[in-house]
Amino acid sequence: MPNTQAPRTAGKHRRLVLITGVTRGLGCAMAKEFARLGHVVIGCGRSVNALRELESGLGDAHRFDLIAVTDDARVRTWASEVVASHGAPELLVNNAAQVNRNAPLWEISAPEFDVVIDVNIKGVANVIRHFVPAMLKSGRGVIVNFSSGWGRTSSAEVAPYCATKWAIEGLTRALAQELPRGMAAIPLNPGIIDTDMLRRSFGDAARNYPSPQQWATLAVPFLLKLGPKDNGKPLTVA
Ligand SMILES: NC(=O)c1ccc[n+]([C@@H]2O[C@H](COP(=O)([O-])OP(=O)(O)OC[C@H]3O[C@@H](n4cnc5c(N)ncnc54)[C@H](OP(=O)(O)O)[C@@H]3O)[C@@H](O)[C@H]2O)c1
Repeated sequence: MPNTQAPRTAGKHRRLVLITGVTRGLGCAMAKEFARLGHVVIGCGRSVNALRELESGLGDAHRFDLIAVTDDARVRTWASEVVASHGAPELLVNNAAQVNRNAPLWEISAPEFDVVIDVNIKGVANVIRHFVPAMLKSGRGVIVNFSSGWGRTSSAEVAPYCATKWAIEGLTRALAQELPRGMAAIPLNPGIIDTDMLRRSFGDAARNYPSPQQWATLAVPFLLKLGPKDNGKPLTVA
């Protein structure tokens, strides 16, 4: 996939934004909105057609790779390639996640439980493990880990997902205590948005919520304002 150097225009700083899970939903809408505002986007996901559409729609300054965040070795290689081609991300958004099918915990099989844990917790740790060293070297950067309302409250039939998002809140706040001054790690509840994920949990009632595109016009400026002052604070897009 394209490997072009991120351009910078004199007088206008283009942020280098890395987003996991850009093939649909919030990740896709954020990628398009950051690009529309002139920022450079690095993204990943597992759906090759959607990645190619982003490449052709957004152009060569950006980079989209076929990566499952659960594959630690592949994330490591991806990080070294991205840092060589574009530099260290200035904003790293851990967005990729999955939700379990609605069911009481005792009806969730071990493999179903594992997928949610592997993507939502271990996938986030993999991305942090391989991208944050370059951010530390550059001495700056904001890491936003997508949490959920279900990372702060709970509901029946989403116990595995709740477990992962409560984990993200703790993991992110501990990471915030490890980062040097000038950087930030933030657990972010995006709100409630009509995506494939929400339809899996809410069914048709998902249509009562904003589209990812509507959400991104608020969320992207919100994300661009985050900085060291927000380190360790659980925030909600509003
Ligand atoms: N929608 C809401 O109302 C809501 C509310 C609270 C929190 N959130 C959080 O917001 C984030 C985005 O959710 P969404 O609603 O946009 O979900 P979504 O529509 O299901 O999209 C999830 C994205 O993650 C990617 N993904 C899944 N597994 C992956 C893996 N192993 N490796 C790489 N990418 C993977 C998917 O792409 P591929 O299938 O191509 O890999 C897709 O691009 C999640 O962290 C979610 O928990 C959403």
